[in-house]
Amino acid sequence: MDLATLANTIWSELSRAQADREHPWRTPVLASVDSEGLPQARSVVLRKVCSDTQTLQIYTDSRSPKVKQLQTSAQIQLVFWSRSLNWQLRVSAQAKISRRGPDVDAAWQQVKQSPARQDYLSPLAPGDTLDTELHKKPSNTHHLAIISATVTKMDWLSLSPAGHQRAEISGNTLRWLSP
Ligand SMILES: Cc1cc2nc3c(=O)[nH]c(=O)nc-3n(C[C@H](O)[C@H](O)[C@H](O)COP(=O)(O)O)c2cc1C
Repeated sequence: MDLATLANTIWSELSRAQADREHPWRTPVLASVDSEGLPQARSVVLRKVCSDTQTLQIYTDSRSPKVKQLQTSAQIQLVFWSRSLNWQLRVSAQAKISRRGPDVDAAWQQVKQSPARQDYLSPLAPGDTLDTELHKKPSNTHHLAIISATVTKMDWLSLSPAGHQRAEISGNTLRWLSP
């Protein structure tokens, strides 16, 4: 496979992951940096993929600690691992948070029909200490926000007994690396 074909294959695999709940790339780890400069990593669901704009979307609660972190430090990394492909993909990206607008409205129309709506209507912010009384009162307004990650670099690693392979895709620069 040449590098251009590899880049296309990676994007089609990401598109498949967005559509297929069972795809191992559906739940990457999102790493950010907190206000003390410490790493923070957590699993998220890949919601939307656009190869034209080189963006990946994740839904979150606008009150969650990660949103504050991303507003201060927008540089993130998403790490995907697929046991079936034997591929790891480390995606460096610039994150942008949207709390309102047509994209958030469309996302909410979809999420509100699923059990996940409760997460975004909770009167408690993620990470709040549990308060039973408050917990009983659902909020009328949702707190869904979209994290749009614009890809700046991809580091692809393929594990194989025949020999590992590694490549970097950074804008129009594609190159093979030593694994
Ligand atoms: C499989 C899985 C998928 C998850 N997907 C999301 C998600 O799409 N968005 C999200 O905000 N949190 C998601 N979470 C919860 C986060 O991992 C995390 O616990 C939560 O968002 C709080 O993170 P924070 O305190 O760094 O903001 C998911 C957790 C798991 C285990």
